Amino acid sequence: MSTHELYTIPAELSTWDVEMAGSARFTWEYDDGRDRMLALYQKGKDKQWDSVKRIDWDIEVDPYNVLGLPDNTIAIYGTRLWERMGEKQRQDVRLHGAAWQFSQFLHGEQGAMICSARIVESVPDLDSKFYAATQTMDEARHAETYARFLKEKVGLAYPINEHLKALLDSTLSDSRWDMPYLGMQVLIEGLALAAFGVMRDITTKPLPKQILAYVMQDEARHVAFGRMALRDYYKNLSEAERREREDFVIEGCYLMRDRLRGRETWEALDLSKQEVDEAMGYVDESDYLRLFRSLLFSRIVPCVKDIGLWSPRLQQAYADMGVLEMAGQSLEALMKQDEDIADKLDAERFAREEAERHEEVAETIAMAAD
Ligand SMILES: [Fe+2]
Ligand SMILES: [Fe+2]
Repeated sequence: MSTHELYTIPAELSTWDVEMAGSARFTWEYDDGRDRMLALYQKGKDKQWDSVKRIDWDIEVDPYNVLGLPDNTIAIYGTRLWERMGEKQRQDVRLHGAAWQFSQFLHGEQGAMICSARIVESVPDLDSKFYAATQTMDEARHAETYARFLKEKVGLAYPINEHLKALLDSTLSDSRWDMPYLGMQVLIEGLALAAFGVMRDITTKPLPKQILAYVMQDEARHVAFGRMALRDYYKNLSEAERREREDFVIEGCYLMRDRLRGRETWEALDLSKQEVDEAMGYVDESDYLRLFRSLLFSRIVPCVKDIGLWSPRLQQAYADMGVLEMAGQSLEALMKQDEDIADKLDAERFAREEAERHEEVAETIAMAAD
């Protein structure tokens, strides 16, 4: 079945072509890789997994309750708009919210795959090329996983959000080799990682939990990669060059905070223009979404600080967004935690399967004895 049949609003039928600038770079130095970078590359190779095998695709998902969250996580819950809705329309609100969210994850993963392939081409050092090659494969597996989840379990998809698309466009079309890192590894992945984390921690449903936990196990490495590469490079930027990067970060962060709000999900429902505006007003005011939006910066802010883009101007922008205190988060601790959660999930599943097997064997033996 074509994905176009799943799109609730029509997506472009043709490919989206981003004109790229800058060079593809070869290097003939095969020997002086940085130990930290090569260690990360080794880890990238060791930790590859196959979603066909690792994820338990037999688990059923209720498309009207994908993450198993209470209704008070819905922005319009309890409002006049919600009260006016019948049960069918409320079901649609639940379905469309999840379909939109996971669709943006999917398109973002494709963007990550393309950006990391771009880094393979353009970054000067071979150790970074090696690492980015493993990331390209990671992102392919993630896109594969989310695509299957949407198709088999949710049954509805959204085209890419126009603001996410704009950010990807400016990230990919820039000729400077560090910009795909800054746009993708730091901003988009930082945002995605935080969103995955919130959902992984609050979902009560086993299938999305597996997917989110396993994807996050890989994403932790990707953020580490961006930090390592940029921290080294940004030490030697001129004042003007640093300022340009900071402007890009500030603009990108405002865009992600204020624009990625899924207005299209409300437009796709059977609502009047006025009701769509009403719903967006609730989205702005919702305590839950406010908390969610500030949590989205938990990975970006400490990373931006760590790579050395930390002028008073940038700090002021984060203070205005109310997320400056996120700078104190330890990325190492979060990354370690992401890995532990995935390992723990594996251990629990493995122990449960083992116990079930034992039980089956015991039953068979008992039957044979009868
Ligand atoms: Fe990914
Ligand atoms: Fe990633």
